[in-house]
Amino acid sequence: MKALGIDIGGSAVKGAPVDTNTGRLLAERLKIETPEKLSPARLAATVAEIAAHFRWRGPIGVGYPGVIQGTRIRTAANLHPRFVGCDGVKLFARATGCRVALLNDAAAAGLAEMRFGSGRGFAGKTLMLTLGTGIGSVVALDGVVVPLELGHLPMKGRSAERRVSSSARKRLDLSWSQWARRLNEYFEVLETIIQPELIIIGGGVSSKHDKFFPHLRTRARLIPARLGNAAGIIGAALHAVPAARD
Ligand code: BGC
Repeated sequence: MKALGIDIGGSAVKGAPVDTNTGRLLAERLKIETPEKLSPARLAATVAEIAAHFRWRGPIGVGYPGVIQGTRIRTAANLHPRFVGCDGVKLFARATGCRVALLNDAAAAGLAEMRFGSGRGFAGKTLMLTLGTGIGSVVALDGVVVPLELGHLPMKGRSAERRVSSSARKRLDLSWSQWARRLNEYFEVLETIIQPELIIIGGGVSSKHDKFFPHLRTRARLIPARLGNAAGIIGAALHAVPAARD
């Protein structure tokens, strides 16, 4: 089974065809930078450009960085505000002419890591965070992945992701240990309410885990995601093929 996985991020859209049985990318992924916040129509055209690049006619899974309820997008913290209320399934299906399944971007990354990555074979309560432009979050238990919005937990009067995301580290020019101190405060709250047995850190920065993991103090075992930036693409593709979801 094959599906095209698309990962919409705050600064780029990435996609590649995926073998949903093995989780392998079937071609080198295409990344299109989106430095400004694109309107829904322009972002849909970017997704269509990726589908056309792979001459894709099959199912497409789209991971979107916000709350998804049914076929609708409910939030757009780091994207164009016109996405709020928009029917994302219709939008991307019209632009590509293909069948589209839509899910939260962190849920996509979580599905992929639990199936093929560092959470593989672990059925206990797992918290996975993706640290990027925002903070994506999911809890997984017994193979079920539930998207959460822990990046918007209030911390010092603002959304946690404004202080603790990977882009906050760059924007505020924090050293790795300064950033880790903020992450530790955040983990203390998350561990108190979620009590995970395992914490997986994803997002581009997970490849630099040796720089900040030594400063982190979590009760749960802490491991980096294994699929790196491909996790969002792989998980979106899994979501597009119903039989690959279970
Ligand atoms: C959004 C989440 C998303 C995360 C990572 C947050 O701002 O609200 O839905 O998963 O960013 O992209």
